[in-house]
Amino acid sequence: MKGKPVIPPVHLTATYKFDSSDDLIDVVQQRSGYIYSRWDNPSVVEAENEMADMEGYAKALGFGSGMAAITTGVMAQLNSGDRVVASREIYGGTFELLNDVLANFNIETVFANCWKTDKIIEELKKGASLLYLETPTNPLLRIADIEPLARAAHGVDAVVILDGTFASPVNQRPFDLGVDIVIHSATKYLGGHHDITAGFLCCHQKYFDKIWTYRKILGGIMDPMSAFLALRGFKTLDLRIQKQNDSAMTVAVYLKDHRKIKAVHYPGLPSHPDHEIAKRQMSGFGGMLSFDIDRDFDQTKSFMDRLQVIKLATSLGGVSSLANQPITNTHAALSPENRAKAGISESLVRLSVGVEDADLLIGDLEQALDGV
Ligand SMILES: Cc1ncc(COP(=O)(O)O)c(C=O)c1O
Repeated sequence: MKGKPVIPPVHLTATYKFDSSDDLIDVVQQRSGYIYSRWDNPSVVEAENEMADMEGYAKALGFGSGMAAITTGVMAQLNSGDRVVASREIYGGTFELLNDVLANFNIETVFANCWKTDKIIEELKKGASLLYLETPTNPLLRIADIEPLARAAHGVDAVVILDGTFASPVNQRPFDLGVDIVIHSATKYLGGHHDITAGFLCCHQKYFDKIWTYRKILGGIMDPMSAFLALRGFKTLDLRIQKQNDSAMTVAVYLKDHRKIKAVHYPGLPSHPDHEIAKRQMSGFGGMLSFDIDRDFDQTKSFMDRLQVIKLATSLGGVSSLANQPITNTHAALSPENRAKAGISESLVRLSVGVEDADLLIGDLEQALDGV
């Protein structure tokens, strides 16, 4: 038959057959093919190859979630007795991994605010095996200055891992800034359509074998259908991100001048404390922003309930705009003191700007603000 599919098939297979025992032995010993889909799968490998190219690293690995990428990538770098330096404003699951789970394995983590570059460098100089960063942060979009931090980490032979989920590979180039291993929750921008839970890790060749082995042991590989959908997401990633960058900036400027808004947290605004770093480090300011309404908790809750176009949901980065009130969900576990220390007020709203027209989003925000 002439004509080939434009879109590659999804390789929904758990295992692979061989013409001879010698072929099977060769694949097991040389990793020269496929044997079992917890090890590798053609759909996953295809997505990994595109992901590695996109981030500029030699290798990428696909995972069943962002957290699977983080746990596997971090654990493959550490041994009992090691010390980790991490920025404090990291995803809750990552914080629990470092602070609770790995503490049980005699691995100590010291946390410092991501914007306190000197403090992080001071901690690194005391000795560390790993520097763990996430930037921009959730939900206040603070920015870590990656390059000097990576340089300081390498000065003490620490590996640098960065969670770049909020920036996506379009707005930030961790490879150029000295990051050894970059991780994304592909559940967000990379998948882009709110329909997969997945993760990617990109790394230099020298880290690959160990992380691949840990993925095989821990069992967190991406499933073929998610790999297929991630590949579809990649095709429009650049277009989506450009639109989301533009709309988020338009929405941020609108909110900044609104009389019922106390503060807007968006790295693209000159008023943001890390604007200068973001300008230097990022090629776009992203589709995430947060804002404090000049109202109490209950009124902010009714603002959320009045939204019609913007959906009340956790997660972020996809085509539909999503909003949440961090203290009711993502940051509900924090004590009031720790929330205050982190700058997360009861009237804070996080907004993930989708690909709808900015005017439609502004209209929705306007009518919801009118009612409170
Ligand atoms: C910045 C960041 N990293 C990692 C994760 C974890 O990703 P997943 O939910 O795909 O495991 C999330 C999830 O919200 C996130 O926001």
